Amino acid sequence: MATVVVIGTQWGDEGKGKVVDLLTARADYVARFQGGNNAGHTLVVAGKKIILHLTPSGILHPDKVCLIGNGVVVDPKVLLEELDRLQAFGVAVAPERLVISAYAHVIMPYHRLLDLAREARKGHSKIGTTGRGIGPCYEDKVARTGVRIHHLLDEASLRRRLEAVLDEKNFLLTHYYRQEPVDLEAVLDEYLGYGRLLAPFVGDVSTCLNRAIAENRAVLFEGAQGTHLDVDHGTYPFVTSSNTVAGNACCGSGIGPTKIDHVVGIMKAYTTRVGGGPFPTELFDTTGEHIRTCGGEFGSTTGRPRRCGWLDLCVVKDAVRLNGLGSLALTKLDVLTGLPVVRIAVGYRCDGAVLDGLPAEMERIERCEPIYEEFPGWEEDLRSVRRFDDLPAAARRYVEAIRDHVGLPFSIISVGPGREETIVVKDPFAS
Ligand code: GDP
Ligand code: IMO
Ligand code: MG
Repeated sequence: MATVVVIGTQWGDEGKGKVVDLLTARADYVARFQGGNNAGHTLVVAGKKIILHLTPSGILHPDKVCLIGNGVVVDPKVLLEELDRLQAFGVAVAPERLVISAYAHVIMPYHRLLDLAREARKGHSKIGTTGRGIGPCYEDKVARTGVRIHHLLDEASLRRRLEAVLDEKNFLLTHYYRQEPVDLEAVLDEYLGYGRLLAPFVGDVSTCLNRAIAENRAVLFEGAQGTHLDVDHGTYPFVTSSNTVAGNACCGSGIGPTKIDHVVGIMKAYTTRVGGGPFPTELFDTTGEHIRTCGGEFGSTTGRPRRCGWLDLCVVKDAVRLNGLGSLALTKLDVLTGLPVVRIAVGYRCDGAVLDGLPAEMERIERCEPIYEEFPGWEEDLRSVRRFDDLPAAARRYVEAIRDHVGLPFSIISVGPGREETIVVKDPFAS
């Protein structure tokens, strides 16, 4: 058996939820290792759709164990609501099937308030965050002033944590952002209540995963966001506040780097991005509109229209290097049906030079002009195709061009949102 990490190669929303749900059939354990409920991972099974923000996307498979690692930031209210939504969906999640790391940090009310207040104050230069308190929560983690899941299980220690931070948070909220302060007793009460409800799920994710790996069980790691939203390697400062790259599967779950066998990079057949930041292949014309409409490109978390553009292989090739990808999963190929031509960016022209990856400086990325290769489009509906050879010749050529430029094989090609609307070229667990 094996350990496989699934990550997004672009700016998020590549279809990680669908691919993780699909691959869970081959796994015993599925773990999230970073991000929080800024993620929105969509699963469509037997025509029914559910969007998951915190629970790993393996949860619909009744006999698999899902884990929320120490690297995730958990909003306990959102998680409890999600467990209720799953119950209404017909999936009762017993504590044997969901383990939440005691070390995971908790998103507190002041994190959400600060996230929103900061964005409002930035005006045009705002990042366009999801407003879920992700950045402020990670800031507190690194500043060593955070609240962790285990604090919710012990009144005295939660009180001590809040006493240590609330003065400063309330000063910022009231004097700088002109907001209402947060009341210690009310927060204590509310969060101890969440602690009581979550207590049966709290456990030692690192030990659980290491035991599973020692027993040769198959483990799947589910990335959130995408490589170019990584706080170090992404289009800084228009990024999220965690490391989204595959290496963080280790830090964010408590396993060693020698335990990872294979990394699958998910890429959409085109590019999207939500929120601010550079996007060299963005389309502002009817083709962009066509992609947004046919691809249903509206945020799974915030409902915002996603910015759409041509596939950018500079972005994907950077992701190959940053994540040590072993194979690719291509999603949403069906969405390009009906376009007379399709384009792929294979490099950039920038300040008189030709580049094949994104430069570090935001201002330089904004000056990058994509160099495109153009391919004929196709008219056929792809959603019933289950074998690569059954794709229309033009779609095959498009996929082969991507493979040749990137230099990696495809393990999966997705032709619709449904679990079954998939061409499995090679099982990543067999790599
Ligand atoms: P994630 O954040 O990477 O899990 O992706 P999202 O769930 O935010 O966005 C992907 C969207 O595309 C969801 O609405 C999926 O149901 C949908 N989707 C995934 N794969 C395909 C595909 O191959 N074709 C089409 N048409 N939709 C897809
Ligand atoms: P999934 O897992 C797409 C973006 C936000 C914003 C930036 C910072 O569904 O792919 P944050 O709230 O994290 O501080 O916002 O990151 N962002 C995402 N974009 N998909 C996501 O997750 C995202 N999570 C955060 O839009 O630009
Ligand atoms: Mg998403």
